[in-house]
Amino acid sequence: METTSQSPLNLEKIVPEAEDFLPLNGTDYVELFVGNAKQSAHFYKTAFGFQSEAYAGLETGEKDRTSYVLRQGKIRLVLTTPMTAESPINEHIRKHGDGVKVVALWVDDATKSWEETTKRGAKSFMEPETIEDAHGKVVRSGIHTYGETVHIFIERKNYNGIFLPGYKKWESHYNPESVGLKYIDHMVGNVGWGQMNTWVDFYARVMGFAQLISFDDKDISTEYTALMSKVMSNGNGRIKFPINEPAEGKKKSQIEEYIDFYDGAGVQHIAVATDNIIETVTALVKRGVEFLYVPSTYYDTVLDRVGEIDEDLEPLKELGILIDRDDEGYLLQIFTKPVVDRPTMFFEIIQRKGAQSFGKGNFKALFEAIEREQESRGTL
Ligand code: FE2
Repeated sequence: METTSQSPLNLEKIVPEAEDFLPLNGTDYVELFVGNAKQSAHFYKTAFGFQSEAYAGLETGEKDRTSYVLRQGKIRLVLTTPMTAESPINEHIRKHGDGVKVVALWVDDATKSWEETTKRGAKSFMEPETIEDAHGKVVRSGIHTYGETVHIFIERKNYNGIFLPGYKKWESHYNPESVGLKYIDHMVGNVGWGQMNTWVDFYARVMGFAQLISFDDKDISTEYTALMSKVMSNGNGRIKFPINEPAEGKKKSQIEEYIDFYDGAGVQHIAVATDNIIETVTALVKRGVEFLYVPSTYYDTVLDRVGEIDEDLEPLKELGILIDRDDEGYLLQIFTKPVVDRPTMFFEIIQRKGAQSFGKGNFKALFEAIEREQESRGTL
């Protein structure tokens, strides 16, 4: 999809308040296209503590794809793989590797959501359609966003089945415990050079979002690499989409590295919230999840920057959890290494203690950590 036809954005004209015409009730599910959904599902259960929820495949009459639905708290992941050589899903995987295809949004009226957003300039991905089974009806529709990523609007008020019509309950004898992940806090999109404002404009104009915070490359830069980021939020604040673009640095930006390996714009990270980040990250480490290394010197001065916190510093330091503060409180966060072989998608674990921001004060410390990783891959 092309965005060049959209008018350049005058940032001063963005209304400070989001116009909640849809409205969005929350993230319904995130669907990844993957090379082997069975093994990915095993990974997300074993390593991340997701629970088996639903399944669609040959046994349910699905001919060209297999999908596993996993759940933890309010977070629903769908892992989909093609079953035939002809499936267009193959092309997505060939180009991008495993990655997010669908960010599905839960709405009261999927028909109206499609009509309103396409009227405002969104490119249609799927016209409104009703699917049903013995448990009721779901209406869904979809629009394109950055790269080959799409938003699907899900209207499920007349449905009480396990996930969507066409899926059956997934019964498994293997059910590793949850690690305490509750909901998706935000999802970040990486877009190409000069494209950030186009997509900020898209979320403002087409989706009625407002811009929360703006960073510039002076905020988020290290000696070598830089990025620019703006955070878009819907009116009720349940959906937050930071949009990053690379900025010029002495060496390759991590956003540029993502764009190169993903072969275009896409979802960079999914930030998931927990009520106890020390317990959650301890469990994740035990299960084999790899996190970015943070130099222990970070902890020598962090309390001077963020002030008093409820947690002991020692376990935070041991796990590499970062701390940041804004006017409203503080937050604790940590980033996994990419969860796929290409240096593309990763997860963030976040615990908010009042703060509504995204860890701006940690960016420098974090990017220096990322650069050490890039250096080891020879892509800095
Ligand atoms: Fe984040």
